[in-house]
Amino acid sequence: MNDILKHIPVMKKELIQSLKIKKNGIYIDSTFGSGGHSKEILKYLGKNGTLYSFDKDPSAIAIGENIQDSRFHIIHEKFSNLLNYAENKKIIGKVNGIIFDLGLSSLQIDDYKRGFSFKQDGPLDMRMNPNCGISASDWLFKSDVHTISYILKNFGEEIFSKRIAYAIKNKNRQKKITTTKELVDIIKNAIPIKNKFKHPAKRTFQAIRIYINEELEEIKKALNNTLKILIPGGRISIISFHSLEDRIVKQFMIKNSRKASVPYGMPITEVQLNKLKTSKLKIIHRILPTQNEIKKNPRSRSAILRTAEKK
Ligand SMILES: C[S@@+](CC[C@H](N)C(=O)[O-])C[C@H]1O[C@@H](n2cnc3c(N)ncnc32)[C@H](O)[C@@H]1O
Repeated sequence: MNDILKHIPVMKKELIQSLKIKKNGIYIDSTFGSGGHSKEILKYLGKNGTLYSFDKDPSAIAIGENIQDSRFHIIHEKFSNLLNYAENKKIIGKVNGIIFDLGLSSLQIDDYKRGFSFKQDGPLDMRMNPNCGISASDWLFKSDVHTISYILKNFGEEIFSKRIAYAIKNKNRQKKITTTKELVDIIKNAIPIKNKFKHPAKRTFQAIRIYINEELEEIKKALNNTLKILIPGGRISIISFHSLEDRIVKQFMIKNSRKASVPYGMPITEVQLNKLKTSKLKIIHRILPTQNEIKKNPRSRSAILRTAEKK
């Protein structure tokens, strides 16, 4: 594989340790990417262990299909469908560990043809699965100023969201924006103040990508389902890369590690009461990458690993 298009797995050692892998256990990698974490899990599994790895990107699946290992299964599916898959495979309540390494792989970012990069010119696409959904170019063309501005503000925390949205619509009225460079130039011209530490298009690209790939909805749906899929004692480990993702992960863990408060005098049996008063998850830890890792792999800079255990 070309060196530029190589993905270095983030917090690999910490992620593997967090899972406490059982040799003959069943594991799910929800975000296969180029398989760095999956391959590491396989090293720790015995001959009766199983690993199911998911990705929605056909290029990731092509990489997974090259792994010749009877313990390994690659699945072209979005991770919000984990529960359906687990039902079909009859592994509900049997899975020992589930991991999520959220966001984009370097393979996706560094391939100019995918349209994720504001540093290279390419078609303005940004779909993780280019066979599904709507491209960034089409979405910007059909959306109104207020929708675009709302998305840039809420999914990119872009303070100049309105100015950028108006500039995008003005351009689109003359000619549809079809390349990443066109969009970058529009953003550069629309922003009055430049931050020398951040590329002016970073927030807009993040916002559009999160929106068109429904990234936050995917995470919410998938996390709730993991509680049904895991065996008691099974672990869930999630690496997130920005505050919007991490907030969802954190809230999910906090909510499910709290005992329900039952109003005094509520008509309820003792069995029901005990069930309600038992939390579903135990929070294990929150870990950040070491300075050494950040130096070697700057992409890990904003990573946060959170782990919890099903009770
Ligand atoms: C950061 S990369 C994972 C890298 C991987 N851990 C490795 O070591 O190579 C994230 C991957 O998750 C995939 N992905 C993101 N959202 C997804 C979803 N909702 N369903 C399935 N795959 C998804 C992306 O296509 C990408 O390949």
